[in-house]
Amino acid sequence: MRTNDAQMLVLCALADGPLHGYAVNTAIERLTGSRLGRGSLSGALVRLRDKELVEYLDVQGRQRPLQLTTAGRALLEREVRSVADVAGRMFEATVPDRTAYQDRLAATDAVRSYKASMLGMLALRPGGTVLDLGCGPGIDLGPLAGAVGPYGRVLGIDHDGTAVDRARARTAHLPQVEVVLGDLHNLPLADGSVDGARTDRVLQHVEDPARALAEARRVLRPGARLVMAEPDWESLSIDHPDLAVVRGYTRHLTDRIVRNGAIGRQLPRLAAAAGFAVPTVTPVPTVFRDLTAADQVLGLQRNTERAVTAGYLTAAQGRSLLDHLAHQPVFASVTLHITTAEVPTAA
Ligand SMILES: C[S@@+](CC[C@H](N)C(=O)[O-])C[C@H]1O[C@@H](n2cnc3c(N)ncnc32)[C@H](O)[C@@H]1O
Repeated sequence: MRTNDAQMLVLCALADGPLHGYAVNTAIERLTGSRLGRGSLSGALVRLRDKELVEYLDVQGRQRPLQLTTAGRALLEREVRSVADVAGRMFEATVPDRTAYQDRLAATDAVRSYKASMLGMLALRPGGTVLDLGCGPGIDLGPLAGAVGPYGRVLGIDHDGTAVDRARARTAHLPQVEVVLGDLHNLPLADGSVDGARTDRVLQHVEDPARALAEARRVLRPGARLVMAEPDWESLSIDHPDLAVVRGYTRHLTDRIVRNGAIGRQLPRLAAAAGFAVPTVTPVPTVFRDLTAADQVLGLQRNTERAVTAGYLTAAQGRSLLDHLAHQPVFASVTLHITTAEVPTAA
């Protein structure tokens, strides 16, 4: 049995429980951005009742709430599954391997461009020592080696063994590069022994960003720079007619998925507290208008499903978000900030 759009919207509106007739249309407006005309709402209700997909609750009063029947809920679930099938073809179904994910991101123009800016901001000199804190699979170690030259030293540090192995393999031909398995909260380095350091989407994950900054401050020499590219996930905006849906999605991401979701905006304060001067903060906004590109970075389907499971979105809201992304022009944006921090020379 197929249902037309108006009937489907009524079923979605009733997914989370019984509603009075007028509240059905309010719920539809929340899901889609517009109300059904009076004729199409009442027509849909009559047809759904004829098919025994919705029923009035058996309570006293002039306005009796409507609810899904067992058959109505089964039909809705079948329809949701068919949307999930579409979504399964359009969105990434599995969490990509972490190394492959970082490599894929680094190959995009936007990421290549801000990584090149960061290298310039580090102002490295030949013969210097530079740290890549949370180096991951070592994407940035080659360019850092080029900047410090054959007599310089590049140290990549990461606490993930697989990433360290990958970074070592990637830089085996560069004698000035060393990759160490270690924790940013306890750097295996002497005070004031380093000429520059970078973090690239790392402090968003660490347990204690203030401690990691204090460690970086300790090992950097006076005048040395720490350049940090860290996102502000609170800035994530996705176009959907119902702002409550995207607020729920973003709130879930910053509450549950990324440990320090607002680190991008917090770094000037945290770096100053760690004893750095903070001369510049450069915002790098990214706008996605292509579903596949947005999905590769944002994991739209899996994070929507997680948000539903965690109660940040209702099932109907999750369905509406994926449906909208799959069928309407896409707009999603998020801003990363590059913060430069300097150890004062008089320190
Ligand atoms: C998003 S990846 C970025 C990797 C790399 N900076 C890049 O731009 O491709 C974050 C990396 O930070 C590392 N990381 C997170 N917390 C860490 C910690 N406390 N100590 C060392 N590495 C850490 C992770 O293992 C991961 O490889």
